[in-house]
Amino acid sequence: MPRITVTVDEITYEEEVEPRLLLVHLLRDRLGRTGTPIGCDTGNCGACTVMLDGVSVKSCSVLAVQADGSEVVTVEGLSSGQEWHPMQRAFHAEHALQCGYCTPGMIMAAIDLVRNDPDPSEEAVRRGLEGNLCRCTGYTNIVRAVRRGAQEMAGRHD
Ligand code: FES
Ligand code: FES
Repeated sequence: MPRITVTVDEITYEEEVEPRLLLVHLLRDRLGRTGTPIGCDTGNCGACTVMLDGVSVKSCSVLAVQADGSEVVTVEGLSSGQEWHPMQRAFHAEHALQCGYCTPGMIMAAIDLVRNDPDPSEEAVRRGLEGNLCRCTGYTNIVRAVRRGAQEMAGRHD
């Protein structure tokens, strides 16, 4: 079996993996990152979104072997100590979740979106998060949270 080295939330792991093992299963079943949920397993819902070398990816659409030598950040690696990431704070402040199942993926995708567009319009947020589905909220508070998170990430809000 292939042996890979992958850094997840600043911890480096060496793992033997089956070539067909999906990154999301490596994260959840082997490395205990159950904060990254599986919503569909077919690349549709975005719940499993993580950062792979700084870019958001659906981890059910990536093989674990493809992450060899890479750095992965999950929602569990976002906070520094007790301090939430600004996007996490914004989702909390704007009540941008109900069941919370989509939230880890939404937050990871939102951070990636804001890195590319630091002051996104409502339209840009809706377009940018098209690949992340939420069954509960109707998206209005999510859009508001992402725009608020963008302000906070840029230091334009406290
Ligand atoms: S679980 Fe990966 S996109 Fe739905
Ligand atoms: S808050 Fe329930 S799926 Fe989004």
